[in-house]
Amino acid sequence: MRARHVLAIADLSDEEIESILRRAEEMEAALEKRDAGQAPKSAVGRIMATLFYEPSTRTRLSFEAAMWRLGGAVISASDMKSSSASKGETLADTAKVVSSYADVLVLRHFWDGAARVAAEHADVPIINAGDGSHEHPTQTLCDLYTLKRAKGTLRGITVAIGGDLKRGRTAHSLVRALARFKANIVIIPARGMEFPDWLLQKVAEEYGYRPTVARPGDLKALARDVNALYLAPARPHQLTLFTDTEFDLQERLAEAEPITLDALYMTRPQRERRDDTTDDGVEYLRVDTDTFQDPAMRHTVLMHPLPRTGEISSALDRDPRALYFRQAASGVPVRMALVEMVLAERVGRDVGSPSARAERGAMRVGPRCGNPNCITRREEVQSERRFRFHREPAGRAHLVCLYCDHETRIQVIGNRRSKHFHVYEEPMYGYLDAWLRDDALVIFDSVKQAEEAAYKSYKLGPQKSIMTAQEIANAIAELTDAILRDTSELKDLVIVGVRMAGAFLAHRIAERIHALRGAAVDLGVLDVQNGGDVVPRWPGAPATPGPNVTIANRHVVIVDDVINSGWTAKDALSCVWRAGRPLSARLAVLIDRGHRQLPLKPTYVGKHLPTAPHERVRVRLRELDREHRDRVVIYSYVDPKAAA
Ligand code: ASP
Ligand code: CP
Repeated sequence: MRARHVLAIADLSDEEIESILRRAEEMEAALEKRDAGQAPKSAVGRIMATLFYEPSTRTRLSFEAAMWRLGGAVISASDMKSSSASKGETLADTAKVVSSYADVLVLRHFWDGAARVAAEHADVPIINAGDGSHEHPTQTLCDLYTLKRAKGTLRGITVAIGGDLKRGRTAHSLVRALARFKANIVIIPARGMEFPDWLLQKVAEEYGYRPTVARPGDLKALARDVNALYLAPARPHQLTLFTDTEFDLQERLAEAEPITLDALYMTRPQRERRDDTTDDGVEYLRVDTDTFQDPAMRHTVLMHPLPRTGEISSALDRDPRALYFRQAASGVPVRMALVEMVLAERVGRDVGSPSARAERGAMRVGPRCGNPNCITRREEVQSERRFRFHREPAGRAHLVCLYCDHETRIQVIGNRRSKHFHVYEEPMYGYLDAWLRDDALVIFDSVKQAEEAAYKSYKLGPQKSIMTAQEIANAIAELTDAILRDTSELKDLVIVGVRMAGAFLAHRIAERIHALRGAAVDLGVLDVQNGGDVVPRWPGAPATPGPNVTIANRHVVIVDDVINSGWTAKDALSCVWRAGRPLSARLAVLIDRGHRQLPLKPTYVGKHLPTAPHERVRVRLRELDREHRDRVVIYSYVDPKAAA
């Protein structure tokens, strides 16, 4: 026997969502005939508790209205400051207690993953009414309901989602639902507010889909020609998976088929959630009557979960394409349908919806979740299993938090039996996998933590120098000359180094260009691990470019130290693409060591170096490794099992 929680949109099957949307239509029809009396009274004698740790107008009041309309009753803590939370009571205790007063609990909380913790402790169904920057699944039901009524279907329609996609939980749940129902998705994040990687990863993993990315300034073009944002319309996700290093946008556009923009879904900047001020003054998509006058947008409906804070001009409110108030109104019938389903399914007092139970392949060990807003960093959680493994084809592996879905990089792995640790690198995946199966795996946050736990380091094999400082300098000179041979206008060129070693190499290439041509070239740094923004923040760059390195309509040369599987290069290409549409993108590497898992070919290679898979090549640079001289070394891992 178990309670039926709705913690994320993934907790509802396709059939359940469809049946909720159908039932909501019946509810709406019944509400319209209210005098004649007849919304179904399926909650008579039942109590809903609404616990809102964050402000709300629509979600709380429409849930409460829905419960009253169904004949039930509501108890509410709408301001948790007036509850014992203000005395320091944990969410776990609060959920446990309140679930003994009510039959269903609706929770909004400021921490990601909070609803899941409540579900672990409550004996009744928990409905997530928004948890931090994570999810807002019931808003998505309202969005789907409104969209489907306006467009007749979800399949194949094209929806653009704009605004703060980093922290906007409504957008997070919506993108997952749209991908699932096979809509085309264009995302228009404000700079620095891109969808988090964990989410895109999930959408790619679950539905084999990658949304197309556009910039706020592209909206007009988008309305006129959505095609312009697709490289291959049959497979829109192709965009970030292009496998050649040079591409001709115009040529690919010529292959595109016409698509219309069916809906534009705007969101507000989540100011209360931001952790810094980097988004002050960024270009944010705003929609006014002028935008919507474009004939190309005559069939585009305009949506917003509300509240709006200037993203949509009120002059549009009377336009029949403006659906945001209808979205808000749908909250009552949609939540009636959902509450009815949840109450009907509740077959007993026990914990564990499909999503609250530990996932298969979940692990018992694990460090702290990398997301500072995750509930697991704020409250002791009951479950021993806080992560599952995610493995990419390249052997890269990371942990995925079962509460907030964020990815945490694996830093240091240890073997509980031999009491040895090793800084985790891709070639070690086999060990990680084997130790996990043997129940011997420990994951540490840092080497310091491993040492403090009295683990000893595995030894690496002897290092062999394979390139001297002079050879590296020659290779950089050759790379630079080759790049210049292919460049007619220096102003069209931008060199982008992949952090860390690639960025130093890019800097040296830029310096050489300056010396040879007597003019500066734009230089950017790309942090693939960290959101992938191209930023001109390299100290001592030969020129001072503007606040952002312009990628659009320029020839980009991405510089990295070593290419192996090709995954980093692929990520770098995607990041560059996100930053703007370049005329071309080329890749320059100091060393190509083979073992490609993606069909990527660097345009410029300093040295081809055949290697064995268990070997590791490291480019050690003066700036990076604080060495006297640059050098490239190669070493292999000593079998950690043998070392043990
Ligand atoms: N009301 C929605 C939420 O709570 C959207 C927003 O606040 O921007 O997530
Ligand atoms: N859309 C939405 O969740 O609104 P509230 O924050 O007002 O509940």
